Amino acid sequence: MAIHGEITPPGDKSISHRAFMLGGLARGTTVVRNALESEDVRSTRGAVQALSVEIHKDGDTYLVRGSTPSEPLTVIDAGNSGTTARLICGILAGMDGFAAITGDSSLVRRPMARIIRPLESMGARFMARKHGYLPLAVSGGLLHGISHTMEVASAQVKSALLLAGLRAKGETRIMEPSRSRDHTERMLRFFGADIHQGPGVVSLSGGQELEARDIVVPGDPSSAAFPVVWAAATPGSEIMVRDVCLNPTRTGFLEVLERMGAKISRENIREAAGERVGDLVIRGARLQAASIAGEEIPRLIDEIPILVVAGCLAEGTTTIRDAGELRVKETDRISAMAKGLSSLGARVEELDDGLDIHGPARLSPGRVRTFSDHRIAMSFHILSKACAMEITLDDRDCVGISYPGFFNAMESLG
Ligand code: S3P
Repeated sequence: MAIHGEITPPGDKSISHRAFMLGGLARGTTVVRNALESEDVRSTRGAVQALSVEIHKDGDTYLVRGSTPSEPLTVIDAGNSGTTARLICGILAGMDGFAAITGDSSLVRRPMARIIRPLESMGARFMARKHGYLPLAVSGGLLHGISHTMEVASAQVKSALLLAGLRAKGETRIMEPSRSRDHTERMLRFFGADIHQGPGVVSLSGGQELEARDIVVPGDPSSAAFPVVWAAATPGSEIMVRDVCLNPTRTGFLEVLERMGAKISRENIREAAGERVGDLVIRGARLQAASIAGEEIPRLIDEIPILVVAGCLAEGTTTIRDAGELRVKETDRISAMAKGLSSLGARVEELDDGLDIHGPARLSPGRVRTFSDHRIAMSFHILSKACAMEITLDDRDCVGISYPGFFNAMESLG
């Protein structure tokens, strides 16, 4: 059934994390508005407060009083949040002192060696579980800049090294195989840092001071993607999505949906806190299959589960390749989507680095395992709405990791 209405997604998760971290390092009081109120961002606030940064809430505004981070008295718990764990390691590496970090049963299975190795080569010392898993301990101090080529395009690794580089002696230079989200670079610049971005490379010199700023966090395109796909794949629908971050390193999914035949207009484009922000109008259509691979993968990595749903609703075979990173997210998202869809009767082939989805899928109602992954849960809920078919999720609460209020917001559309 066609849907109509207007929705404002919650504040962007990546930008909210960074606002509290950079605010914590900056000179003065940073004001953060429209921060995402979710479990992941709560983990980051807890981690930053553990370093003796004061954070106060006044209505819906946070005041972050920046200071030199000091040794935490207890173990930092990053919960489910890879961004918290990896970025905070970049800060701890340059802090004079010792800290220990852990996380939940998902996070302790996610790779940390990708940040440990380069941070060690900058001069920090780490102890971690076998193969570099959490819990880990870091002893930070005087660092020196490095030139580092990342094996995978990862904004979390890049950001950890930039945060360490801020405190290091000399220049830190990072090369990435393809362009990942650049919120850290933009926010560092917004806080007054001198940072250089070229094709595939970013660098900064150590010893720079950040100045406190006022930040209004724009809406999260990754959360917007759920209603956007629902409307895009449902002919006759028209929805408006307001105040979304339209940073080009995040909007790959819009380009894919347009290739599939959706009509999307970007309106009221403006700039806020160094980020491009705007409104989207989505008009539904009968979608055609698409191929998704290569350089665009990092620009839509978190939207792949919901693009798999779009593939199920589209005509033809949608192929996804070069997305092996999905196997080390909150859960193995390639396997979780393949298992869930197969259990509902869809024809899906699971590959090492992606999936083939044959659409339009003929589905039967059923119960799906989410593996307590927020994006898997929301993707199957949208599939159920778009097909007007009962899909029971084994865990609905996990959506609170990134989109509290998701189910009510979707009810308001249809
Ligand atoms: C994020 C980067 C991405 C993304 C994650 C958030 C960030 O992870 O999947 O949800 O805020 O920097 P990787 O850096 O591991 O690709």
